Amino acid sequence: MCGIVGYIGKEQASAIILDGLSKLEYRGYDSAGMAIFDGTKVNITKAVGRLKVLDELTHGGETMPGTVGIGHTRWATHGVPNNVNSHPHFNASETIAVVHNGIIENYIPLKNKLIRKGYQFISETDTEVIAQLLDYYYKGNPMEAITKVLHRVEGSYALGILFAEFPDEIFAVRKGSPLIVGQNNNGAFIASDVPAILKYTRNVYYVDEQEVACLKADEIKFYTVDEEEVQKEAVHIDWDANAAEKGGYEHFMLKEMYEQPKTVLDTLSPRIKGNKISIEELNMTDEELKAIKKIHIVACGSAYHTGVTGKYVIEELARVPVEVDVASEFRYRNPVLEEGGMVIVISQSGETADTLAALRESKKRGFKVLGIVNVVGSSIAREADNVMYTWAGPEISVATTKAYSAQLIALYLLAIKLAEVKETVSMTEITSLIGDLKRLPDQIELLLNNKEKIQRFANRYVGAKDIFFIGRGIDYAISLEGSLKLKEISYIHSEAYAAGELKHGTISLIEEGTLVAAVSTQKNLYQKTISNMVEVKSRGAFVLAVTNEGNYDIEKAADYVIYIPETNQYFTNSLAIIPLQLFAYYVSVGKGCDVDKPRNLAKSVTVE
Ligand code: AGP
Repeated sequence: MCGIVGYIGKEQASAIILDGLSKLEYRGYDSAGMAIFDGTKVNITKAVGRLKVLDELTHGGETMPGTVGIGHTRWATHGVPNNVNSHPHFNASETIAVVHNGIIENYIPLKNKLIRKGYQFISETDTEVIAQLLDYYYKGNPMEAITKVLHRVEGSYALGILFAEFPDEIFAVRKGSPLIVGQNNNGAFIASDVPAILKYTRNVYYVDEQEVACLKADEIKFYTVDEEEVQKEAVHIDWDANAAEKGGYEHFMLKEMYEQPKTVLDTLSPRIKGNKISIEELNMTDEELKAIKKIHIVACGSAYHTGVTGKYVIEELARVPVEVDVASEFRYRNPVLEEGGMVIVISQSGETADTLAALRESKKRGFKVLGIVNVVGSSIAREADNVMYTWAGPEISVATTKAYSAQLIALYLLAIKLAEVKETVSMTEITSLIGDLKRLPDQIELLLNNKEKIQRFANRYVGAKDIFFIGRGIDYAISLEGSLKLKEISYIHSEAYAAGELKHGTISLIEEGTLVAAVSTQKNLYQKTISNMVEVKSRGAFVLAVTNEGNYDIEKAADYVIYIPETNQYFTNSLAIIPLQLFAYYVSVGKGCDVDKPRNLAKSVTVE
C-alpha cells in the first residue's frame, strides 16, 4: 500500500525522501511524487511507474531544492495511476500539500459539500478532499485546521501535511494506517515504516490513533485531536541495518527464504526452557490455558494459511476445537464467540486492516486477543491484549516466506503448550516434539541448499497456464500456501484443493501435461493422496510429489519427487513449504517477473 516519507531539517529533503521511498517500494505502488518547499513556494513533481522515473525526472532530487518536504508512493485505490491522481495533492492555491495512505470513506459527501461551496476538484482521489477541506478550515492556524478535518473524515489515514505559510513545520497524522516519526541531530522524519528512516535515526515514535505530530527541524510535539499536548517516549530500534538490504542476494525473497533457519531458531529458542515450552507473553496461567474451550484464529493470506495448519496441529495435539477465519469474513459475519473462547490474530505487518478490524471486533465483544505479530510496535501489536512476536526481522519481499515460517513455529509452540496443560499428550511425547522442533532449522537449511533440483524443474514450468496443488489435512494447508506463493509472484493461475475434493468438479480442468503438485507428508493420509495422484495422472497430469524421505513407492504415482527430511507429522509444513517457495521463486525469475514487487500487490494491506 502507499508509502509516506517526510523530512524537515538541515539537509536537502528531496534526496532523503527519494531514498526513504525506495525503502518502502516493497509496500507496492504504481506512481510516486514529492512536494518540496523551495524557500518561497511548494513545488510538486509526480511520475507514474517506478520510483526511478521520479528520481530521473528530478535528477535525484536536485531539481527540487529545499529542506522541507513530503513524498509518497501511491497504490491506486480511487482513480487510475496517473499524474493527476498521484500524490501529493494541493489545495487550489497550492499552499497546502498532502500525502495520504488509507481510504477516506466519506469523501463523496465531503466532496459534494465542498463543491457546493465553490471548490473545484481535479483528481478522482479521496485524498484531494483532505487538501481542500484543510483549505476550507485553514484560517492561519494549521493545527486548528488539521483537527477540524480529523473530526470530519471517516475511514483510515496516515497523512503527511505541508503548509507553505508554515515552512518550519510538517505535520503527521494517523488513524488505522501506519505512521512513525523520528529525529536525529539534522532533522525530523515521517515514514510509513522503519526501514525508510533507519539509515538516519534509530529513535522513533509510533504515532497513536488520531494523534497529530508536529515536526520541526529540532523538535517533535504530539497532540490529541483536541489539541492537547501528549508526552511520548521514543522507541529505540535495534534492527540490524543490513536486515532491510539485499545483502548480495538477487532478490529480497531469496534472501528471506535463506533466513528461514535463523527465523525459526529465533522464534523457537526463547520459548523452550529445558524440556518444556514457556510462552511468557501469553500472560496466562496454566489454569487459564487449561480452561480454553475453543480457539478462533483470524488472519489474511499466508497468515491465514498458517492458521489452517494451526487448526490441524492444535486440534490433534491439544484436542481444542479451532475455527479459522479469513479476517475480511470474520469481521462482518457476526461470529459466535462463547465464554471460554480465545481469539488469535496472525499478521506479519501488524497493520492489515481486516485483521485489525477483527481484533477490534473481538475486543468489543469482551474477548481477549492474542496477536502473533512480526512487526514490533505495529497497530495489532499495540492493540492486542497479549503479543507473541515472531522474530523474523524486517520482511521486504511482498511474498512472505520467513514470517510465514515463524508464524508456524508460534502455532506449534502454542499447540504443545496447550497439550501439556490439558495433558492430552505425555511428557515423553512433548520431549520428542521439542526435539523435532529443534531440528527444523538444520533441516530447512538442507532443503535450501539442495535448491538446484527444484530450480531445474521450475524452469520447465515458466510457460505454464494452470498449476494445481493438492493435499489432505496439513498437506492441504501446505498446498494453499504453495499455490498462493506461485500465483502472486509468477502470475500463473493456480488453485489449491483438498485432494479428495478435486474429483467433485475441478478435475475437469486437468489436461495433458497440466502440472499437479501433490503434497503427501501425513502417514494416515498417504495412500489416500496417492490415489488422488493416480486419478489426475491417468487424466494426463504431470505429477510433482512432495513427500517424506523414505516414501520411495510414491515414484510409481509421481513423475518427479521432492523428498523432505523426516520430522514429526505435525511439523511437515515447515519443511514441505521450502521446495514450494523455491519453485514459485524460480518460475517467477524464469518469467522475468518482478519477484519482490509483484503487480497489483502490496506488502501491507492497510485498506479493507
Ligand atoms: C503473502 O505472500 C501475501 N503477500 C499476503 O497474503 C499476506 O500474507 C497477507 O496480506 C497478510 O499480511 P499480514 O501477515 O501482514 O497481515
